[in-house]
Amino acid sequence: MQGFLKIEGLSKDFSTTLPARPVFADVSFTIAKGEFVCIIGHSGCGKTTILNVLAGLDSATAGHVFMDNREIGGPSLERGVVFQSHALMPWLTVRKNIAFAVVSRWPDWTTAQVNAHVEKFVAMVGLLPAIDKKPSQLSGGMKQRVGIARAFAIQPKMLLLDEPFGALDALTRGTIQDELMAIVRETQQTVFMITHDVDEAILLADRILLMSNGADNDGTYTPGRIAEEVVNPLPRERTRAGLHHLPGYYDLRNHIVDFLVTRAKAH
Ligand SMILES: Nc1ncnc2c1ncn2[C@@H]1O[C@H](COP(=O)(O)OP(=O)(O)OP(=O)(O)O)[C@@H](O)[C@H]1O
Ligand SMILES: [Mg+2]
Repeated sequence: MQGFLKIEGLSKDFSTTLPARPVFADVSFTIAKGEFVCIIGHSGCGKTTILNVLAGLDSATAGHVFMDNREIGGPSLERGVVFQSHALMPWLTVRKNIAFAVVSRWPDWTTAQVNAHVEKFVAMVGLLPAIDKKPSQLSGGMKQRVGIARAFAIQPKMLLLDEPFGALDALTRGTIQDELMAIVRETQQTVFMITHDVDEAILLADRILLMSNGADNDGTYTPGRIAEEVVNPLPRERTRAGLHHLPGYYDLRNHIVDFLVTRAKAH
């Protein structure tokens, strides 16, 4: 069970000239099967870049990523990705955007099976009334929900979520957080999620990775890194409404906020 996803010594340098100036370096962590891990850090520290490498959409400058003991070398239906900005096919309706992924995953299914499956996941994100609309007819939050439904619909071994709720209003965000938590608990889904929202991380994550930005200090460049891993000590049965009543909640929240305010950009 341990180390379902293993990230070893990852670094990424986009610069093409010397000296090397990696966005982050020496990033190593593992995620156990069924674990929900969030990563928090300021803009530009490299969170999306890490997620893209885990998705197989980008390659690292150094280091390796293994899922189920196999090295990740490209994208796969074993991993469902929700992007920071939605990535829907604009010429296809909501139904067809999701069906496209479902058919790729289960090529033998009948149209009726595919449709029933698609409808189940569209209902999950509350979009049945818009199922036959195209992305251009949807709001940003609705498009984001289609992306979430699509990632869940292929029932991947692992979900990679890049600020999936960023574009949602508070009410929808809460509803979908609850849905996500219920499905993840029920299916023992393994999740790696990027968020800027400290409370969201505390609600959802078993473990929270705190990532610092690369920084220049006295002429020396230090790449970004995972500065700390925080285990969430709160009971897993926590709810949004009850979160701030739990003993330990404020300590955890203050610790993460302190990191973001004082340590994430300083080194
Ligand atoms: N394709 C690219 N080419 C060059 N530089 C890139 C590329 N992609 C990302 N970067 C740079 O790498 C750094 C990290 O980017 P990344 O998108 O991973 O940050 P992030 O932590 O996800 O930020 P945010 O919270 O704003 O989404 C940034 O400085 C960005 O400009
Ligand atoms: Mg990002």
